[in-house]
Amino acid sequence: MDERTKIAIVGAGRVGSTLAYTLAGAGIAREIVLIDDDVQRAEGEAMDIAHGAPFHAPVRVGAAGLAATAGASVTVIAAGVAQQPGESRPALLQRNTAVLASIVPRVAHCNPDGLLLIATNPVDALTWVALRLSGLPASRVFGSGTVLDTARLRSELAAHYAVDGRNVHAYVLGEHGDSEFVAWSTATLANVPLDKFCRLTGMCCDARDMAAIEGRVRNAAYEIIRRKGATNFAIAVALTRIIEAVVRDQASVLTVSTLVDGHYGIRDVCLSLPAVIDRSGVRQVIPVPLSSEETESLVRSAAAIRATLGPQAA
Ligand code: LAC
Repeated sequence: MDERTKIAIVGAGRVGSTLAYTLAGAGIAREIVLIDDDVQRAEGEAMDIAHGAPFHAPVRVGAAGLAATAGASVTVIAAGVAQQPGESRPALLQRNTAVLASIVPRVAHCNPDGLLLIATNPVDALTWVALRLSGLPASRVFGSGTVLDTARLRSELAAHYAVDGRNVHAYVLGEHGDSEFVAWSTATLANVPLDKFCRLTGMCCDARDMAAIEGRVRNAAYEIIRRKGATNFAIAVALTRIIEAVVRDQASVLTVSTLVDGHYGIRDVCLSLPAVIDRSGVRQVIPVPLSSEETESLVRSAAAIRATLGPQAA
């Protein structure tokens, strides 16, 4: 880690403050700044997290205004209204577009060389909006996308097959939302395609089980929000993983939401595909081979995101 690594988080709500807490313990940043219109909230969260610092790698945690995004390696946008029980992510678009319009141009002005990581939902549509508002290159404006959904899928498959999730390689692609899908044709376990893994191990690969897993992944946020009112822990870890790949220049393959302009015949929309993430941001999108059915799902997902944007995307 560069000793001067600074991460700025705009939005000190449940996701932003949990991200600051997770980042502080991860030893990835030397400085974390929390920014929120509710200054008291940002200061209180920063103070509470900073008091834990002596228990792990030294890190300065503080609260400040948007100008403090200057010099940040990554500025995370976690500001805006969150899904309410039963509410879809696209329903948040108009309110959160206004929030981003008040933030992104100022951040881009303060930090024209930094990266913007969008966490606010609907994250794919808002990544596209942030890209336009910022005037920054597409490689440096990307969203958390289906990194969390892919983790949820790996967690489900690890439990189903009783193996370490780190040995499960499978992707959720497209929208971080109702039109997301599992690219089953690319899924491997122990470097073996899933169906072959099942034959080799005598384990069950029942299509109904896989459909149930895909449904639980797709609806996870609704189920969590219905129970606790929000999601914050897993998304914070997903964002921390993305930031780690940037700050440590790891060239990790992660399904962030990024501008797709040509792959699979899709143009001018932000959605999740496997992408190489390093200190430059999105270094390269990897257009993995998909079945015809999966390609159709991806195209449908792109259309759903464009529909969310409405006339903005025309
Ligand atoms: C979720 C939120 C981050 O899926 O959209 O938990």
